[in-house]
Amino acid sequence: MKSLIQKLVETTSPSGYEAQIRAVIRAEVETLADHLEVDNLGNLIAQKGQLAQGGKKIMLAAHMDEIGVIATHIDDRGYIRFVPLGGVHPRTCLGGRVRFLNGVMGVIGVERLDDPGKVPSFDQLFIDVGVSSRQECPVRVGDVAAFERPFLDLGKRLVAKALDDRIGVAILIETLRQIHTRGIQLPNQVFFVFSVQEEVGVRGATTSAFGIDPDVGLALDVTGSGDTPRGSKMEVSLGKGPAIKVRDQGLLADPRVVRWMVAAAEKAHLPYQLEILERGGTDAQAIQLTRSGVLAGCLSIPCRYIHSPSEMVDYDDVQQAVQLLVALLSKPIEFE
Ligand code: CO
Ligand code: ZN
Repeated sequence: MKSLIQKLVETTSPSGYEAQIRAVIRAEVETLADHLEVDNLGNLIAQKGQLAQGGKKIMLAAHMDEIGVIATHIDDRGYIRFVPLGGVHPRTCLGGRVRFLNGVMGVIGVERLDDPGKVPSFDQLFIDVGVSSRQECPVRVGDVAAFERPFLDLGKRLVAKALDDRIGVAILIETLRQIHTRGIQLPNQVFFVFSVQEEVGVRGATTSAFGIDPDVGLALDVTGSGDTPRGSKMEVSLGKGPAIKVRDQGLLADPRVVRWMVAAAEKAHLPYQLEILERGGTDAQAIQLTRSGVLAGCLSIPCRYIHSPSEMVDYDDVQQAVQLLVALLSKPIEFE
């Protein structure tokens, strides 16, 4: 899966501008799905299996957008001011590099600070694309960019920008590939949704969940970990298996869904962790609250340094997430 992950994370597609990553994903899933669709917001929906008697509609969602920036002003010397697109922190911008959709690269600089010990605010930062005037500047107000950082393979650990949530995308693609190549007959109709605009407020999952009207919904996304020096007190570590979400800021996972996932992990002898995330949310919250409500949960990949240009996940956790998903989808669902 590593070359697929590298291809996904090295594609530039901030929220609202997912055309490039959608084309990459489409090429991967085209031959694997029974039906492909792109809805009005740009969600890519790959459907597999038919709705049999007593079967359910299952929606799986992994967001394909990534955090980025949007140009707001260009001064006479060609310096670009910007605001964040999604949850970017000024701290992670310093010394960073960005790539605009037209391929233009730039570095992020900072004004002279009165108090150099303080983290600057966004209005003290600017992008320098190597020109000397506004006329020469190849970027216009309204252009968007994502952070630029090459994929780093540390063996067991993988590091990249946009692992949030291209790692979820990679897991959905690999799950669909295994179901297809192993000829698994699905007892349910499954919708693999590669959603847009998650980072600006789970917008793609909101409309796609309404359109699909699923019985059960699962998001695939990253979650934090508590295993770094003086990190948050969180009982999730890299390398101890994918995490089954119990709670985050936007979701109380349905306990029936949690029990379904736990039982499947134990039956397949796969390691798992139970996740309680204090801050942040996922597409699952949008799925849960669509129409008259949906049984929803989330399978999370433990991740360090989320929303920085060097996010880190454990490759075993990733592969075990695929195995757990395949196990969940292969059998009829019995909720207790
Ligand atoms: Co995110
Ligand atoms: Zn995410």
